[in-house]
Amino acid sequence: MTVKFFGGDTVPLEMHKVRVVQKLNLPPIEERQKAMAGAGNNTFLLQNRDVFMDMLTDSGVNAMSDRQMAAMMVADDSYAGSATYERFEAKLRDLFGMHWVLPTHQGRACENILSQVLVTPGTIVPMNYHFTTTKAHIVLNGGTVEEICYDRGLEVTSSFPFKGDMDIDKLEGLVATHGPDKIAFVRMEAGTNLIGGQPISIANLQEIRAVCDANGLLLVLDASLLADNLWFNKTREESCRDLTIPEITRKIADLCDVIYFSARKLGCARGGAICIRNEDLFRKMRVLVPLYEGFLTYGGMSVREIEALTVGLEETMDVDMISQGPLFIAYMVDELVKRGVPVITPAGGLGCHVDVMRFLPHVPQSQYPAGALASALFIASGIRGMERGSLSEQRNPDGTEVYSNMELLRLAMPRRVFTLSQVKYAIDRLDWLYQNRELIGGLTFVEEPEILRFFYGRLAPVGDWQEKLVAKFRADFGDSL
Ligand code: F0G
Repeated sequence: MTVKFFGGDTVPLEMHKVRVVQKLNLPPIEERQKAMAGAGNNTFLLQNRDVFMDMLTDSGVNAMSDRQMAAMMVADDSYAGSATYERFEAKLRDLFGMHWVLPTHQGRACENILSQVLVTPGTIVPMNYHFTTTKAHIVLNGGTVEEICYDRGLEVTSSFPFKGDMDIDKLEGLVATHGPDKIAFVRMEAGTNLIGGQPISIANLQEIRAVCDANGLLLVLDASLLADNLWFNKTREESCRDLTIPEITRKIADLCDVIYFSARKLGCARGGAICIRNEDLFRKMRVLVPLYEGFLTYGGMSVREIEALTVGLEETMDVDMISQGPLFIAYMVDELVKRGVPVITPAGGLGCHVDVMRFLPHVPQSQYPAGALASALFIASGIRGMERGSLSEQRNPDGTEVYSNMELLRLAMPRRVFTLSQVKYAIDRLDWLYQNRELIGGLTFVEEPEILRFFYGRLAPVGDWQEKLVAKFRADFGDSL
């Protein structure tokens, strides 16, 4: 399915051409250091004009196709009964085979509605792994989250192809201990965001379905990262090898009762939706849409975005489209492994995840090593990544730190946005940083918000390591940017 090079190189070849471009700015390292200081060593607080490669997220920043842009021009702008919405609803029914559809303004809005309707105080939501906004909404409604992926899903280096799978014994154990009435619903994330974009298998979903059927439980799929997952089903799961992408999509959907997604990821636009098999459940959720989102035929999205999304969902059924992200990520991961740089393996979707526990073993978790590496990488390269470690956790009520299982630097790969030479640049600068890792020190808070501190907290370097890093860069690279 991929193009082989005569020279034997493994190169992910772009199956698209670029027709609209945006100029990038790469300021010299001294200015990057100043920008990082101005942003309190928090990559969320950088100004995009100072950023060369924005690898913060793949959310709302994927490239759109010519067909998506064209569709935006024929949007039917009406508050109620828009033809644009009809097209969107028909596309979702066609892809997932679920009749009932509700529009929302983004993924977390789906989670709000689902949690308000399904979660009651004292209930439990078993899931392969949580996402920050998902957990927040479940907890807000009095529920708790039980993360029950296989233990091997949390091993940083692995050859296990579906690290996002749920441990069926743990699921059955939870049901036996608490009783099915205490389970609000079972949630699967395809693929898993916080453990490195790792996919789930259809075989696992079938086993979960059987447990749900035996106990009268609802199975909810978070399909925000489904595009990547479909590629992994196709290439890593024997039963999918001869199936088309629409067939694999339907095979997954047929096992679920509810599918929701952030269209900032799935469909390369901005928005979200909930697809529901059961009419009663649809009616219970429907009342919340005009309350929180907007009328039922736009749900907080602009009609232009809905048109782009409908085409984007159609294009997600194209194997050339969905392979681009995973192939670029695999290239980056493989090249970093060759250079000894510690990353999560096997390569997943979403982005490349650097294992900072092994990258900076000398920086204690109390000094936020993943945040420190994010800061160092921006200074060394102008690349903006996202800390996914202890900085993203919240302190205990007594003020002590909660240290995360993994300290990751996520370098997201927005779909069809970067060229291979830009990815090579990212690999090169990470390689250089790894060779000079002993120069990198920790961070300490100077301003620490109580809630979601990673979004707007400000930090300072511990000691003068950033000056030393800049000096070493100049010594090694001369007057290079
Ligand atoms: N579920 C998953 C798996 C996600 O990755 C996200 C968002 C959401 C739900 C929430 O969707 O942002 O549209 O409200 N992930 C983004 C990220 C924020 O950067 O990984 P949203």
